[in-house]
Amino acid sequence: MARGKFITFEGGEGAGKSTQAATLAERLRRTGLSVLQTREPGGTPRAEAIREVLLSGKAKRFGPLAEAVLFYAARESHLELAIRPALEQGTWVVSDRFSDSTRAYQGAAGGLPRSIVDVLDAAVVGSTRPDLTIIFDLPPELGLQRVARRNPQGADGERSASDLDRFESMTIAFHRDLRDEFLTIAKAEPQRCVVVDASLSMQMVADEVWSAIRKRFDL
Ligand SMILES: Nc1ncnc2c1ncn2[C@@H]1O[C@H](COP(=O)(O)OP(=O)(O)O)[C@@H](O)[C@H]1O
Ligand SMILES: [Mg+2]
Repeated sequence: MARGKFITFEGGEGAGKSTQAATLAERLRRTGLSVLQTREPGGTPRAEAIREVLLSGKAKRFGPLAEAVLFYAARESHLELAIRPALEQGTWVVSDRFSDSTRAYQGAAGGLPRSIVDVLDAAVVGSTRPDLTIIFDLPPELGLQRVARRNPQGADGERSASDLDRFESMTIAFHRDLRDEFLTIAKAEPQRCVVVDASLSMQMVADEVWSAIRKRFDL
């Protein structure tokens, strides 16, 4: 049986990743594929427990290295128990965030040297790299406006608008650094990454995502 494809969604807050991950997973299922829709940090019980610590901000005072280590502890569980078994069974995996988020958040915007993220990534991810990464690009001001409007039953279904998480509450300068880094990654790895204009309507973004999928894979 052919190995499944590994697709990751990356980009800043409120870019529409969670919304579009659900749309893409559904669209792929309609073509007859088996699909695992998942997210980071999270995707397994152990990783979801680490997610709570990270997004609550409880690990913030430990600094970007400790946070990066926690993200990779969650990622290791996610890969071992969810992503690799799925791919081996021929299931396609759509992950809302993956390693590029650590590069952007703890690396470029957080100040952790790139070489450290690279070492953690080599140890934990190894050769299980995404076949395709979609970078959702939009001005951070627009993304943060969307997050502020997101109601408690939003795509993540777990937070109210006034209750920003560890990263949503960072300065606009931090979010600009994130955007720059995601675009730098896309430029450095054009064979893996496709940038979509996330400021468009949900329908238009969904169409851009689908066209990137069709271009990359034989569907
Ligand atoms: N293209 C879009 N245009 C306008 N609002 C959007 C769009 N995509 C998503 N949203 C809304 O913006 C908010 C953030 O979307 P979400 O998918 O949670 O983003 P992310 O997961 O990237 O943070 C949600 O309330 C969602 O309904
Ligand atoms: Mg989300």
